[in-house]
Amino acid sequence: MRAIQIDRFGTPDVLGIVDAPEPEPGAGEVLIRTVATSINPVDDKTREGAIGEGTPPLPMILGWDLAGIVVDGGDSGLRAGERVIAMSHQLGSGRGTWADLVALPARAVAAAPRSMSLVEAAALPLPGLTAWQTLDWLAVKAGERLLIAGAAGAVGGLALQIARARGAKVDALVSRDAQVAFARDRGADLVTTDRRALEGHAYDAVFDTFGAFVTEAVVDGGRYASIATQAGPVPDLASRGVRTTVNQVREDGAGLHELTKLVDSGSLQVRVHSTFSLQEIQAAHARFLQGGLAGKITVVF
Ligand SMILES: NC(=O)c1ccc[n+]([C@@H]2O[C@H](COP(=O)([O-])OP(=O)(O)OC[C@H]3O[C@@H](n4cnc5c(N)ncnc54)[C@H](OP(=O)(O)O)[C@@H]3O)[C@@H](O)[C@H]2O)c1
Repeated sequence: MRAIQIDRFGTPDVLGIVDAPEPEPGAGEVLIRTVATSINPVDDKTREGAIGEGTPPLPMILGWDLAGIVVDGGDSGLRAGERVIAMSHQLGSGRGTWADLVALPARAVAAAPRSMSLVEAAALPLPGLTAWQTLDWLAVKAGERLLIAGAAGAVGGLALQIARARGAKVDALVSRDAQVAFARDRGADLVTTDRRALEGHAYDAVFDTFGAFVTEAVVDGGRYASIATQAGPVPDLASRGVRTTVNQVREDGAGLHELTKLVDSGSLQVRVHSTFSLQEIQAAHARFLQGGLAGKITVVF
């Protein structure tokens, strides 16, 4: 089968298509034929060798996101031919999704949304689960005020919509004027590119996607979650009674099921910036590196 593998770290030209052995699904696993995947910042950092400790050994197949068709559902209840989505914790397990066939634990897999193509659905799992799980940690309740820093990014844009669906009032910090309309359209009240425009000590919860550390915005006794692992820990706010975390995404089929329901009910939209073929994987990474994206880059098998 085809797989995107690296045998050294570096620029996108280290990405190559190899002929890899087909995986044998073990007990409790589902075998999936990949239709599409997407590029996440972690794939880029892994390819560069920027992750450091905890990186799987070389050579490695990359990729976390997957949308595809079940080949063998094992005892999962998923039937052959069913459309599914999944997220594989590639750094933890070494199991990359950028391959024609992928075997994953059934608990990491869910039925794909019916209302979108598998190419669009491939942009959902990792950013969607990060948004979902971090909002769970923040325990944002209906009527509470949430600030999202990076609200037009892949994770931030989904978090904004999920938080609105949960009834929160959301304000947004974005990086450029071009992102303002997107955040407004998805239901944010105040949208600003200027952190000085944010009200101080006003937000019950802050969801920080890029290490903004806008800690002055959270109320005393509030909650502050960052997902920007590379930016380091959130400053200690214990003296103000603020709980803090740097959240790490987990494989979570039940979470994917909830995201699928939100998509099919019309409450959650996924943005695809552009789509590349597997043969164009180097160009796809090069485009990702340029930045300035409005939506995800997906890759079709
Ligand atoms: N801990 C975890 O489990 C986990 C899971 C998923 C992602 N992550 C990390 O979380 C980060 C976000 O991921 P993502 O997929 O959402 O990336 P993304 O799509 O690039 O989104 C990041 C957003 O933050 C914006 N931004 C960056 N710097 C900014 C600044 N100074 N002021 C205002 N906005 C700014 C970016 O704007 P521009 O487009 O203008 O740059 C972009 O809209 C990445 O570092 C990723 O590695 C961690």
